[in-house]
Amino acid sequence: MQAVAPASHVDALQRIRTLLGQAGCIDAPELTARFLTDFRSLYRGATPFVACPATTAEVAQVLALCSAARIAVVPQGGNTSYCGGATPSARGDQLVLSLHRLNRIREVDAANFSLIAEAGCVLLNVQAAARSVDRLFPLSLGSEGSCQIGGNLSTNAGGLAAVRYGVTRDLVLGLEVVLADGRVIDGLSSLRKDNTGYDLRDLFIGAEGTLGIITAASLKLFPQPRTIETAFIAVPGMQAAIDLLARLREATGDCVTTFEYLPRIAVEFTVCHIPGVSDPLGAPHPAYVLCEVSTARHDPHLRGLLEDALAAAMDHGAVIEATFAESLAQREALWRLRESVPEAQRHEGASIKHDVSVPVAALPAFLHKASTAVAQVAPCARLVAYGHVGDGNLHFNLSEPAGGGDRTAFLALQEDLGHAVHACVQEFRGSISAEHGIGQLKRELLARHKDPVALAAMRSIKQALDPRGILNPGKVLPD
Ligand code: FAD
Ligand code: MLT
Ligand code: ZN
Repeated sequence: MQAVAPASHVDALQRIRTLLGQAGCIDAPELTARFLTDFRSLYRGATPFVACPATTAEVAQVLALCSAARIAVVPQGGNTSYCGGATPSARGDQLVLSLHRLNRIREVDAANFSLIAEAGCVLLNVQAAARSVDRLFPLSLGSEGSCQIGGNLSTNAGGLAAVRYGVTRDLVLGLEVVLADGRVIDGLSSLRKDNTGYDLRDLFIGAEGTLGIITAASLKLFPQPRTIETAFIAVPGMQAAIDLLARLREATGDCVTTFEYLPRIAVEFTVCHIPGVSDPLGAPHPAYVLCEVSTARHDPHLRGLLEDALAAAMDHGAVIEATFAESLAQREALWRLRESVPEAQRHEGASIKHDVSVPVAALPAFLHKASTAVAQVAPCARLVAYGHVGDGNLHFNLSEPAGGGDRTAFLALQEDLGHAVHACVQEFRGSISAEHGIGQLKRELLARHKDPVALAAMRSIKQALDPRGILNPGKVLPD
């Protein structure tokens, strides 16, 4: 049901319309629809209109008006959140603020290994801007063609190169942020060292739009890799994969850039559903690792180091067989296989996702324990546990039973399955949300699993920075 807006709301909304003009307001239902539901179609919201400011000053003015009239604001980037973080409530009184028009690269500084991008820059374009000066911006996600750097920062996204370069937080030098009342923090520093008081930057990273609106970021760049070796490696299971990771890090001088684990079922799903994807190895194997090793120098020995390390691992039973990408096309094919797993899983019907992390060394024990636990709750569910094991992060996903007959019964088990998985996570002192955030999907989980003192401190910070509670209400913090 649409809420009836009080007069001050109506006035403020009208002033925002006048401020942004036609180009900055999206009204038509056929155009607003894509802003009002999330990528997984778990939530459907409503909004008076979608506000699309084109400058930081416009964002600031919109927030000042919203703050005065107590209008809630839901910042939105590429809208690829997995937990409904960017979807407004269904009441229709929360203003969606899309950052997509703030899409300029303000500065690229090759000598300082940094660039400044506005929040609405699509991640692919940030990567391209770095490449244009022979630098690397290493954040890489399956959604990189549509997610925006402001969304990546606000979710502290992880992705496929975190094992080498860290998560988004590790790639930031400074931020420009509009506070709830419209004041702007100009923290767009490109400094590597700056110990001048509290680090406010880190508060906004991963805050999912609940503490301020990020309008621009100063980001770290790296040398472009000159030598890249990509291998698809069959392994007996998770323990072997973890042993292999340590072996490869040592043997290559810590040059492992990507280390992604795929169980057989994930490969079968992609081969079955994603056009052009084929099994890189002839015979089926229990599990695989997509491993990329790279260095910023021309290194003719890197391949040899990798081959020797794999051969030694084979002698110890940690590797069954492996294939190397011999061309860019083959490398892209291997990456396509990995990045298509979420899409392939969608073709297999309903899925229940758990984005969890535990210490890397605990992954084998966790996988065994959690698999046993879910099999007791839902014996026919198909486990697709894959992901960024180099970071201790598993997408412990379950697909509905083959054939789809029991979909309703399967989905009814969601809560019980979550309890089973998260109890194991807790046992290993892991996280119930490794990289996808909390949004509206995991608020109750946060209440159950976060240290209560930490939660209280989070509430105090929220109160200090957003005393009127207008920034993305209903997200992250439990009621
Ligand atoms: P949105 O979905 O628009 O927003 C996310 C949150 O940030 C919301 O709470 C929103 O309110 C807030 N927000 C957005 N912009 C701003 C801003 N400028 N200021 C303040 N708050 C803001 N995630 C990973 O971590 N690793 C992966 O490997 C990964 N793979 C994915 C693969 C696919 C195919 C898909 C669909 C998603 C994947 N994700 C992954 C999840 C998602 O892409 C990331 O969370 C991404 O960082 C979200 O960016 P976005 O621009 O789409 O943000
Ligand atoms: C991925 O790594 O592919 C995504 O973060 C996980 C998912 O889509 O479930
Ligand atoms: Zn992921």
